[in-house]
Amino acid sequence: MTRGKRKGIKTIGILSGGGDAPGINAVIRASVKVAVRHYGLKVTGIEQGFGGLIEDRTRKLGLKDVMGILPRGGTILGTTNRDNPFHYPVRLENGNVEFRDVSDRVLETLQKHRIEALIVIGGDGSLKIASQLWNRFSLPVVGVPKTIDNDLSATDQTFGFDTALTTATEAIDKLHTTAESHYRIMVLEVMGRYAGWIALQAGLAGGADVILIPEIPFDINKVCAKIRERSAAGKQFSIVVVAEGARPIGGEMVVKKVIKDSFEQIRLGGIGNLVGEQIEERTGIETRVTVLGHLQRGGSPTAFDRILASRLGAAAVNLLMEGRYGEMVCLRTPHIASVPLAEAVGEIRRVPLGSDLVRLARQAGISFGD
Ligand code: F6P
Repeated sequence: MTRGKRKGIKTIGILSGGGDAPGINAVIRASVKVAVRHYGLKVTGIEQGFGGLIEDRTRKLGLKDVMGILPRGGTILGTTNRDNPFHYPVRLENGNVEFRDVSDRVLETLQKHRIEALIVIGGDGSLKIASQLWNRFSLPVVGVPKTIDNDLSATDQTFGFDTALTTATEAIDKLHTTAESHYRIMVLEVMGRYAGWIALQAGLAGGADVILIPEIPFDINKVCAKIRERSAAGKQFSIVVVAEGARPIGGEMVVKKVIKDSFEQIRLGGIGNLVGEQIEERTGIETRVTVLGHLQRGGSPTAFDRILASRLGAAAVNLLMEGRYGEMVCLRTPHIASVPLAEAVGEIRRVPLGSDLVRLARQAGISFGD
């Protein structure tokens, strides 16, 4: 295949890879609508991420197929954070599993269904694969950034984040009323992997007293000092929001499990319980821990996420039709722009320590435990 604009693209494919995020269906819907209505294209949906391209699982996507999916969470195409075509587990006759490059099967599936260009909705892992497909085979591909963690460096915001943030904020609101009634400390562990965006912004929106994020290692004594200070001022409850990637000064992040064939092998989790136990032990105040988990990934996308996802889905088709392959659509507020995929992946966006959000929190008396 050669690089450069392909003439007369008639069929495009679309897949969602990696962890789901509220708004993927809105991307799919917008892409299908623009492709079919505006450009007269055919769209093929690839099921279960890159696995669908390897194992040939596809289905046609017409206007009827995307009816009513705008408010639906999840993805109608299914997704997985395994199935990397460049590192795919193959079971050998002796029962052992060997990882092999099966990217030729991706090309076969695309050819079989006459898919000439591909939209990949994904986070860092899936977009890296998309970038490799472009670099190695000049496959016309465009990426759409997706993750509730909001940690992709090339876009101001990823869709899915606003919905996860809203869910986490509602959880803090609910924890507040029970914390207050029982004079307890409530610890809430939220997702976000190596970035503290969900914890920081939910903590601010929900009025947390302590926010622990990966970017600012904490000292448990400082966390307890904040709680004691509140007790001394007559405030007999406290809310502590802990990002799953938070860690004590000089300590490590808590790893819940390692999944060998996943794009991202490490699953974090458990720091909330450790923090909760230590607070109760040191302050003597009754403490409860809630791990919000996958509730943050589920449910109907907020209006913000529906609109952002729709803008990105439409822009992805436009980009393909302009022949700008190997790029990722992104939000450069207030515009939708694009960047080369190679620049978009690999570097995660963490909370900058000098950010006004961190400053606001500090000035408002919120402790980061540092
Ligand atoms: O990247 C999104 C995310 O939800 C992270 O916040 C979390 O650490 C991880 O995925 C959970 O992955 P899984 O769904 O595989 O447990």
